[in-house]
Amino acid sequence: MLALEEIFPPYGLRITCGDLELRVLRDEDFPELVELVQNGISVPGLPMPFPRAWHEEPYAPGTPGGFPATSLSWWWTQRSTFASDRWNLALTVRRDGELVGMQDMMAQDFPLIRSVTTGSWLGRAHQGKGLGTLVRQMVVGFAFDELDALACESKYVVGNHASAAVSRKTGYVDNGRVRGAQHTRDGAVGMEEQRVVVTPDTYVRSGEPVTYEGTQALRRFLGIERG
Ligand SMILES: CC(C)(COP(=O)(O)OP(=O)(O)OC[C@H]1O[C@@H](n2cnc3c(N)ncnc32)[C@H](O)[C@@H]1OP(=O)(O)O)[C@@H](O)C(=O)NCCC(=O)NCCS
Repeated sequence: MLALEEIFPPYGLRITCGDLELRVLRDEDFPELVELVQNGISVPGLPMPFPRAWHEEPYAPGTPGGFPATSLSWWWTQRSTFASDRWNLALTVRRDGELVGMQDMMAQDFPLIRSVTTGSWLGRAHQGKGLGTLVRQMVVGFAFDELDALACESKYVVGNHASAAVSRKTGYVDNGRVRGAQHTRDGAVGMEEQRVVVTPDTYVRSGEPVTYEGTQALRRFLGIERG
């Protein structure tokens, strides 16, 4: 019988660095993930980091509204709409086996554009210890080394100093500002976002060795040819 990873190669991806491991989100991760979100993400004093305050929805497990139902459908959508011309690797971040956050890597028409976009968060208890920087360095290295990306883009709400610092330390440079809308618990508000981009020329690697598993099957699944 075929293994699940042979049917859906993103499940075979494993990116590791020391005690950190990134893998594509599975249903078995949900109980730990929901608890992590419930323990808090946003940092008092920093702007709400997401387009929608999904993490602050009323906690109502087992009901159709609130958290986690609204997030379940988002997480499942990443998998059900995964295709070679539009994909999101929704990666769990585990440290010593414990779920500490999520790192998304998205792309559209990747074989033609060779650019990915990233977004990430850590549970509040795991922030400010250098993990966010290391995780970003890991996925950007993965995009350049294993997917042959030419650029990785990201953006953060102006004033999110932690995200700005992670980008700077990974070698991103500013790439213009855009106005955006944020759906907070108190209603929709306008905000300013800083776009940033990193290329192999400016990328700052982590000092620790990073290992990859399952990349050949993933490249085939994503339609990425290697010369
Ligand atoms: C943004 C985030 C992923 C960064 O990860 P992290 O592990 O906390 O960051 P690191 O420990 O690697 O620190 C990176 C830098 O941010 C700085 N930093 C961390 N928290 C900060 C804060 N609250 N205010 C100002 N700077 C902060 C650190 O000092 C460090 O910079 P330095 O090395 O120059 O001192 C994490 O804080 C987080 O999940 N925040 C909430 C969600 C979020 O903002 N996601 C990003 C959306 S764009």
